[in-house]
Amino acid sequence: KTIYTGPFVHSRSLKELEIVEKGAIGVDEAGVIRFIERGDEVGEEKRPEGWEDAETVAVKGEGFFFPGFVDTHTHAPQHPNTGLFGKTTLLDWLQTYTFPLESSLSSLSRAQHIYTNFVLRTLSHGTTTCCYYGTIHVPATNFLAKLCHERGQRAYVGRVCMNSDLSPEYYRDAGVDQAVKDSRESIEYIRSLDPEGSKKGEAIVNPIITPRFAPSCTSDCMAQLGALHRETGAHIQTHISENKGEIELVKELFPDSTSYANVYDQAGLLTEKTILAHAVHLTEEEKALIKERGSKISHCPASNTALTSGCAPVRELLESGIIVGLGTDISGGFSPSILEECRQAIWVSRFRAMNDGDDAKLSTEEVLYLATRGGAAVVGLEDHIGGFEVGMDWDAQMVRLGVVHGGQKEGEEKLVEGPVDVFGWESAAEKVEKWVYSGDDRNTVAVWVKGRLVHRKDSYEA
Ligand code: GUN
Ligand code: FE
Repeated sequence: KTIYTGPFVHSRSLKELEIVEKGAIGVDEAGVIRFIERGDEVGEEKRPEGWEDAETVAVKGEGFFFPGFVDTHTHAPQHPNTGLFGKTTLLDWLQTYTFPLESSLSSLSRAQHIYTNFVLRTLSHGTTTCCYYGTIHVPATNFLAKLCHERGQRAYVGRVCMNSDLSPEYYRDAGVDQAVKDSRESIEYIRSLDPEGSKKGEAIVNPIITPRFAPSCTSDCMAQLGALHRETGAHIQTHISENKGEIELVKELFPDSTSYANVYDQAGLLTEKTILAHAVHLTEEEKALIKERGSKISHCPASNTALTSGCAPVRELLESGIIVGLGTDISGGFSPSILEECRQAIWVSRFRAMNDGDDAKLSTEEVLYLATRGGAAVVGLEDHIGGFEVGMDWDAQMVRLGVVHGGQKEGEEKLVEGPVDVFGWESAAEKVEKWVYSGDDRNTVAVWVKGRLVHRKDSYEA
């Protein structure tokens, strides 16, 4: 049992952050939060019965506990291409940068290198839950799932399906049967990592059915993946309405469908367990359909700007009652950090506000909600993660502010540390605000999933 003491911050609702300057959170052996004390309630003598011998983990110096981030959309195999996109847009970016790289993961040892680096990286940025696209390769995808299981990161891992001739011959499913058989094989493998947990819906790592996007798949393939979802109950992830050229292509390829969203709906892929990335240019009818089906949206602002896809209308999506989370979308996006994605979401909303008016602006509170509770709801875990409540899992990060990183120049024997008293005068709310705009992974000094320490930096102890 562990008691986490010190300030903590989490979202109460889309508009409201709770900032507790003096807190204590008791987490049991199973990683579940059993009590939360605030302010005057905090004290050794009031510790509940049975917690006398619990270990204490305190925030040292300035800082606070914050829920772990949920990345609702990213591509692990694209990690080596981070920052490379030139002036391409989606369709030529896929052919120029993405397919050649992804196809190279036919080499399992190459996949192991790339995936190990990426999972450690996302953890170091405080991502406790991550929705990963793999590639079409089953051994590589299964390795990714095993890695998340071993490192203790909550994850949804998908073997990518792409059987249409949009894909180059060197990187394409051999046919529908192959796509479905390989998907099934990967689902079974991932569930075998924790058979009991999978049965109860409590596994840390879960499979996710992954038709890349409509132009990559034939109708038959998507319909069979819809059937695979009904058979296995696995989640589904895909892309929707990211780029105007892509939307035109979908119209040409699927003339019998009334819209992009309708293509997925006809295949049985629009479900409560479906995560749709981007959703930049949805029509009113599509939004209504997605809302009715209960499908979720992953907002990927960095990627949408990098590939000049557009500024997704997040305020409108939220107002239509659709559940929204954030996605880094490596390597359309250039950062594996959800904190960076929070800033990008704020920025993009401000570009929308320049045309649509101030209501389009997202606040710091709102993006932090999307990064935690919103993402949790996207994967259906809103009762388990995303906030600090009794009965929820301890998926959390310790944020430290003003950790001074020394510098050293030639001839100096040790690190020279700067003066430390420049910061620390801010109100608690200002500290959070400054973390969102100027923080990075160095501020995330420790990360837990279900009570298990899954990442720490030297500065955690210092
Ligand atoms: N649409 C289809 N594949 C991809 C991908 O890998 N990244 C992004 N951003 N969009 C896609
Ligand atoms: Fe993507």
